[in-house]
Amino acid sequence: MSTVVTNIGELVTNDPAADDLLGIVTDAALVMDEGAVAWVGRAADAPAADEVVDAGGRAVLPGFVDSHSHLVFAGDRAPEFAARMAGESYAAGGIRTTVAATRAASDDELIANTARLVHEMRRQGTTTVEIKSGYGLSVTDEARSLAIARQFTEETTFLGAHVVPPEHAGDPAAYVDLVTGPMLEAAAPYARWIDAFCETGAFDADQARTVLAAGADAGLRGRLHANQLGPGPGVRLAAELGLVAVDHCTYLTDDDVHALRDAGTVATLLPGVEFSTRQPYPDARRLVDAGVTVALASDCNPGSSYTSSMPFCIAVAVRDMGMTPAEAVHAATAGGARALDRDDVGHLTVGSRADLVLLDAPSHVHLAYRPGVPLVRETWIGGRSTTG
Ligand code: NIG
Ligand code: FE
Repeated sequence: MSTVVTNIGELVTNDPAADDLLGIVTDAALVMDEGAVAWVGRAADAPAADEVVDAGGRAVLPGFVDSHSHLVFAGDRAPEFAARMAGESYAAGGIRTTVAATRAASDDELIANTARLVHEMRRQGTTTVEIKSGYGLSVTDEARSLAIARQFTEETTFLGAHVVPPEHAGDPAAYVDLVTGPMLEAAAPYARWIDAFCETGAFDADQARTVLAAGADAGLRGRLHANQLGPGPGVRLAAELGLVAVDHCTYLTDDDVHALRDAGTVATLLPGVEFSTRQPYPDARRLVDAGVTVALASDCNPGSSYTSSMPFCIAVAVRDMGMTPAEAVHAATAGGARALDRDDVGHLTVGSRADLVLLDAPSHVHLAYRPGVPLVRETWIGGRSTTG
């Protein structure tokens, strides 16, 4: 069945052939058929379809592509957040609290919690989500985390190299052997990507390189968490390896920025982390001006960023990271798609997936202009309304 969404006041297409960044069409219509976008143009020229949706002059944009989340976990760390807001600093070691809770949880509990968060995301306009493991950190718990993530998305990432779990604290090298050996073997069937947390207190550049190389041998593509808590070698490693994306990028030298630009590696910025850890925000303006592709993602996790909201990330990126509303919306849609090396999502042009969001607002600017307001009125994934 075909559907025409008509009377769209502002349609964000992200068409790369357009003159403006967002490829905006005003007084627009869009036809979806068989899960894909079949036609885009002025409403007055729209072809007939089986079903008509009147957008009432509101804005329609591509669904958000959230390229970084950690949704498979149990429990929360509200006391840790409250302590930070009272002056404590964030430390990677808090991850172990969630590892203990996740290992103790049943499959049903983990599935229900993941489903709850994916549902939250959909209500806020996210139509593609990447989900990492990383709170199991044993062969069986990493494999089951990824098997659960796979129930919700194709974009699954093996993050056995998140931190060294307590039972291996005395011998990190043995833990890296486990991650690159039996754990990778158990996880690989459920994963598309492999990731490592390259940071003081987690894994150094040599260990991250070893993990990504083993992943590549198993057919997984690499991505990295890097330069989150301080300057470090992770971003340069990502560029050297030609990774599609490197995430956090909070502390960057000029050499790091140039390396990202030259490698074409996407810098994925995660505003929820700096909001929730009271760290300085990454400088998106500097990256954009240098010609680096920027993506925005939620990093939804119970420690450093317990938000599932891409509109929130857009608002913070505009207010505190130097992005224009158009740049932030582009980074949360087309940027996320680039970070996942996907060309079927992140834009609304003929042939793309019919993943779209109808806002309760006349333009994309309102996502930053009206922070904290639930502006997503309806979401379609593959042409099917999920919020209705
Ligand atoms: O992306 N940086 C490492 N991992 C997560 C934090 C996880 C946690 O604190 O539980 C992140 O911020
Ligand atoms: Fe993360």
